[in-house]
Amino acid sequence: MSDIGGLSGAEQRRRWRASALPALRGVVLDLGAGSGIAADHLAPDVAWWALEPARRLDPALPRRIGARPGARLLRAPAEEIPLADASVDAVIASTVLCSVREPAAVLAEVRRVLRPTGPLVFFEHVGAPQGSRTRRLQALYAPFSRAFDHGCDPRRDTERAIRDAGFSDVDVVRTEAPGIWGTVEPLIHGVALRP
Ligand SMILES: C[S@@+](CC[C@H](N)C(=O)[O-])C[C@H]1O[C@@H](n2cnc3c(N)ncnc32)[C@H](O)[C@@H]1O
Repeated sequence: MSDIGGLSGAEQRRRWRASALPALRGVVLDLGAGSGIAADHLAPDVAWWALEPARRLDPALPRRIGARPGARLLRAPAEEIPLADASVDAVIASTVLCSVREPAAVLAEVRRVLRPTGPLVFFEHVGAPQGSRTRRLQALYAPFSRAFDHGCDPRRDTERAIRDAGFSDVDVVRTEAPGIWGTVEPLIHGVALRP
């Protein structure tokens, strides 16, 4: 993907989707699918399996599932993926590892359900360095985002969590987006392969 640092977080995520998702093949599991927007970038013959535990679904999600042959909705948290070992070809995590209860448990589940050499492709916002202005701001609004924004904790070290999860190859790109009140929001995107 060409240089995206400096663009808004939403625009960076949009460009990442357009660049990272069309290459995925086979059965693709989308963790915390939300509106299901990832599906718009998948090849037509991909079997898109959307995992979404929210009690109230975004109405766009069932619409997108209905419009796509082979699509499935899995109503479960990513800590307990209701699929057999090595049953999917790729996993998408787009701004979801900030929201799950236990990132390490989710990443262990991702490894379990991925077939060998299958990719986890991810785009996440992450915690700013300790002591920075952005970190202080993240600490301030974390209780509110935990309560009102899908359980999101903006302070997570998701790169470390992915590196510690036992993938064979981890390729991470770090970027920044302009945050509120002159702060910068650290972002990561990349690929981790199941050994
Ligand atoms: C910020 S939204 C991202 C939605 C979508 N992935 C995207 O890129 O637009 C976070 C999503 O994670 C879901 N979520 C929260 N906790 C989860 C969990 N434990 N397992 C799976 N998904 C979860 C939320 O319901 C929400 O749909």
